[in-house]
Amino acid sequence: MTTAARLDADDATIVAASFNGEAPSIAYWGPRLPPTADLASIAVFTAPVTPHGLFDHGEAFSLFPEAGQGFTGRPALEAARDDGRFLTQFRFERFEATPEALTISLHDPLAELRVVQTLRLHPSGVLRADATIRNDGQALVRVQRFAAAALPAPDGEALRFAGAWTKEFQLERVRLGHGLVASENRTGRTSHHAPPFLIVGETGFTQTHGAVMGLHLGWSGSSEIFVERLRDGRLQAQSAMLLLPGEIILAQGQSFNAAPLYAVRDGAGLNGLSARFHRFVREEILSGRTDRPAPVHLNTWEALYFDHDPDRIAALVEAAGELGIERFVLDDGWFKGRRNDGAGLGDWTPDPQRYPDGLGALAASVRSRGMAFGLWIEPESISPDSDLYRAHPEWALGEALRQEPLGRRQLVLDLTCPEVAAHLFAAIERLVRQTGAVYLKWDFNRDFAHPVSAGRAASVAQVHALYALLDRVRAAHPGLEVEACASGGARADFAMLKRAERIWISDCNDPIDRQRQQAAFGLFFPQEVIGAHVGPGRSHTTGRSTDMETRALTALFGHMGVEADITALCRQDLETLRDAIALYKRLRGDLHSVPRQSLPHPDGSLLAFAAGSEKRQIISVAQLASSAHPAPAPLRLIGLAEQATYRVVLLTPLKQPRAAMNNPPGWVEGEGRQAPGSVLVGHGLTLPVMRTGDVLVFLVEALEGTA
Ligand code: GLA
Repeated sequence: MTTAARLDADDATIVAASFNGEAPSIAYWGPRLPPTADLASIAVFTAPVTPHGLFDHGEAFSLFPEAGQGFTGRPALEAARDDGRFLTQFRFERFEATPEALTISLHDPLAELRVVQTLRLHPSGVLRADATIRNDGQALVRVQRFAAAALPAPDGEALRFAGAWTKEFQLERVRLGHGLVASENRTGRTSHHAPPFLIVGETGFTQTHGAVMGLHLGWSGSSEIFVERLRDGRLQAQSAMLLLPGEIILAQGQSFNAAPLYAVRDGAGLNGLSARFHRFVREEILSGRTDRPAPVHLNTWEALYFDHDPDRIAALVEAAGELGIERFVLDDGWFKGRRNDGAGLGDWTPDPQRYPDGLGALAASVRSRGMAFGLWIEPESISPDSDLYRAHPEWALGEALRQEPLGRRQLVLDLTCPEVAAHLFAAIERLVRQTGAVYLKWDFNRDFAHPVSAGRAASVAQVHALYALLDRVRAAHPGLEVEACASGGARADFAMLKRAERIWISDCNDPIDRQRQQAAFGLFFPQEVIGAHVGPGRSHTTGRSTDMETRALTALFGHMGVEADITALCRQDLETLRDAIALYKRLRGDLHSVPRQSLPHPDGSLLAFAAGSEKRQIISVAQLASSAHPAPAPLRLIGLAEQATYRVVLLTPLKQPRAAMNNPPGWVEGEGRQAPGSVLVGHGLTLPVMRTGDVLVFLVEALEGTA
């Protein structure tokens, strides 16, 4: 007997089917099916065959695969009862379908466990899978792993996300052979090196072609994400929290929730996948919270570091106001005893020597220049050299008599302890009230190895306690905005973004590296949440020198900010920066409501993308390394109406490229030129000669009535 149910997005359908009372599996995920489609007969076409040499029923691969059912891949559940029994064989009880969600109830009467999986398909096509497990029996149940769902993945290749501090969001393409392609993160944060993002697609998938599937775990702690070849040749993909031994023990009546898994499928390569995620993030994760222009920031970090000299700060405030900056964010270094990164965390009161009258006067002077005031804070951390630690060494996470390895010379507070959470809430409350801050850059600058609270593993509870603290702070201050930061981009995930408006994706402000980081991060996230700063001329992290134009036109395609000593800029750089800020203000309404799509180009040293629709696109072309060829190949645009006529006009002066060629292409001159869509799409437009670091930004707009 087959029982089937469907979920519909605007242009996609998922069919889940259960055969003979077994846990359901995905029988179809693809273009939207007609309302009359016979779901049971679809399952007949898509159900797997059973080869010899395996269990008689083949690999029991379902949305909730279990070892006890005859599944030899990595199961969705690993748990054991105190009496030693660990096998499970859940029976499918029922589907419950509403237009938004499909609930799957599973029950194992022998193990006395119930699992409820919920699948929600957003109109964008992004699936969110959740699962809860409940212990109905008297024996304690120790859960070692629990994934929200296992999904079938396309065969071919995977794109893994890797990185390190200042080198976040590197993509690594791997061929899917036998075994697992897995990323495991045991750092307690979302991590630099193995954040839970994965893309799997048919061999040779590109930005614009091929079936692809994207996965992300909405979780800010340790995690795993993998795609695994099953013994019958199929592929399963999962992502879940990594649980510590003894961490999750369920008594009778207790339940545990898996972290939500987000997934999408698209037939048109990475651009299709991104367009779906961008819409999903805007409508669901941000849900209208960012319906305002993302203000231009001045962040003080690379301008001041720990040197909070009042005169320097006053000069920065003044220069920021004159540049058109809209929000002044005072970064690390303002609080008691914070002369370097070895002291002060936990003592969230303004340093009496540098700010004898508190931060109120500075905040007022920021506001008097028309800017909002924002503040850096790292609530979860504590320096051993702090008043807080001296008063409450027991508030640090860890096991008595064992020394947690230090990270950035600091420890982590036990947020699961109600006293600690209450203390932090009160400290943040006081700061927000006293300074009128409308923005917190919420940082967390270390991994942790001893997530122990009251003698028990607490890595999951610590992350939930962080969410609770953030939620409480936000509820108390509905207008307050938050930037999620963790040594740059070590906490960039959908769960944090539910509680933040901006993600600081890297401490690297080098525009050459940033172009690629923003493109990779931008596969899952829309531009308005990407913190992107104009840094110093010589990057503090890579040592590379770049022009102001390169830096500013890179920051333009994120939530723009400046993080450099603007009081020391030469007149020409100041002018360029002022123009770029004005351009950002003019374009952000557009840029922050459309998908970003990569434009393929044969030269790997050039990175191009378009933000916009069929009617209007803003295009960026950046030369990231020296090209092997003197003149670039034409750039073919995408997503335009071939029959429409477009005006193509440069938005930035062609300062540097002009020097590199005898005659620039005609369309870069003056008010621009017109071209049929078919020329721009089919042949592409000639680019000027580009030198390393050159960035071109231009507008392609359909003439009235032609598109
Ligand atoms: C982290 C952040 C930086 C800055 C410093 C301050 O490294 O990523 O942006 O705030 O901390 O210590």
